[in-house]
Amino acid sequence: MNALKQWVTNSTEAVNIRLVKAPPGSNGDDEEEDIIEFNPVFTYPVFGEQEQIFGYKDLIINLEFASGSLASCFSMGYKDKKPTADKIYTAMKDYLPPDIIDNHDQFTQIVQRDYKEFKPMGTKIGEYRVSSEGAENSTFELYQANFDTPRFQEYHKRLQCFAIFFIEGASFIEDTDEKWEVRLLFERVSENGQESYNIVGYCTMYPYFYYPDQVRMRISQFLILPPYQQQGHGSRLYQSLYNDFCSRKEVREMTVEDPNEEFSDLRDKNDMKHLTAKGVFKDLQAPIKKARIEQVAQTYKLTKRQVARCFELALLRNLD
Ligand code: ACO
Repeated sequence: MNALKQWVTNSTEAVNIRLVKAPPGSNGDDEEEDIIEFNPVFTYPVFGEQEQIFGYKDLIINLEFASGSLASCFSMGYKDKKPTADKIYTAMKDYLPPDIIDNHDQFTQIVQRDYKEFKPMGTKIGEYRVSSEGAENSTFELYQANFDTPRFQEYHKRLQCFAIFFIEGASFIEDTDEKWEVRLLFERVSENGQESYNIVGYCTMYPYFYYPDQVRMRISQFLILPPYQQQGHGSRLYQSLYNDFCSRKEVREMTVEDPNEEFSDLRDKNDMKHLTAKGVFKDLQAPIKKARIEQVAQTYKLTKRQVARCFELALLRNLD
């Protein structure tokens, strides 16, 4: 049994994602600081429910990405391999960027080029700065794109594997449907007279028909990459979408497809903040009338269910 076990690898632990932030030595920093490594959270869509790979000893699968352009490179290493070992690239290929390469020298050259040349695509919607340590040279920029936006379809083909690796139940979206809207968040770093971009996160949204002449915007995939999580970027992205929906006449309501617990927390926190600032919870007393929930939902373009949830949270908050 144990002899067999050593040939079994947990696929989530074996896959090593590396964001190459800048070419080694390009900004005078230590090379190590320019590469951020992390594992995926989910690999079952690729390797099956058990998330196991058979036939290798000490297997490591490296997926390297230029941190802005997401140009990518595949490599793997192991101590030993059985002739019947799983075919890893074959299993992964449909989930990886179609233009992924396996030549590391070529990848390094691309990283160096893209570090200087890569620029975000789409329409710039806004920007903000944060005061956290290490972000002194950074500005965060939001862009809006769809599949008609020049360079975006190719970029999305590189980006979408992150949804598979980090959002449970995610699948690829139809990238020929120009109705999809995508908001991208980039970090612009200005160092030594050079500006470079890193991808921070993104969100895909789809407009569903809302009778008779409006749309219900449904957030489908919402992702902040691991190095940027829990620093407020998810909230910024969410607020930018929400503000946009509020300003658009044709948008009647914002909904979310299968939110997980973390996203529900983010949504509650931001909706509560917004509704509190608007005075919705002033002089609150249970029970809340259905008509009041409907009126707040309509005014603030939230679902009735989400508004009811916010009222409940506000009532609980008042108990303190
Ligand atoms: N656990 C619980 N709550 C969380 C977590 C977490 N890991 N991360 C964020 N939150 C909630 C908290 O309420 C937090 O407020 P707090 O910091 O005061 O506690 C609030 O979200 C805002 O935090 P941000 O820093 O703005 O959130 P972040 O930038 O990390 O974005 C997100 C959150 C989107 C869940 C991000 O961590 C992520 O992309 N995770 C992996 C992918 C994912 O789960 N996406 C959502 C799937 S559902 C969908 O796509 C519709």
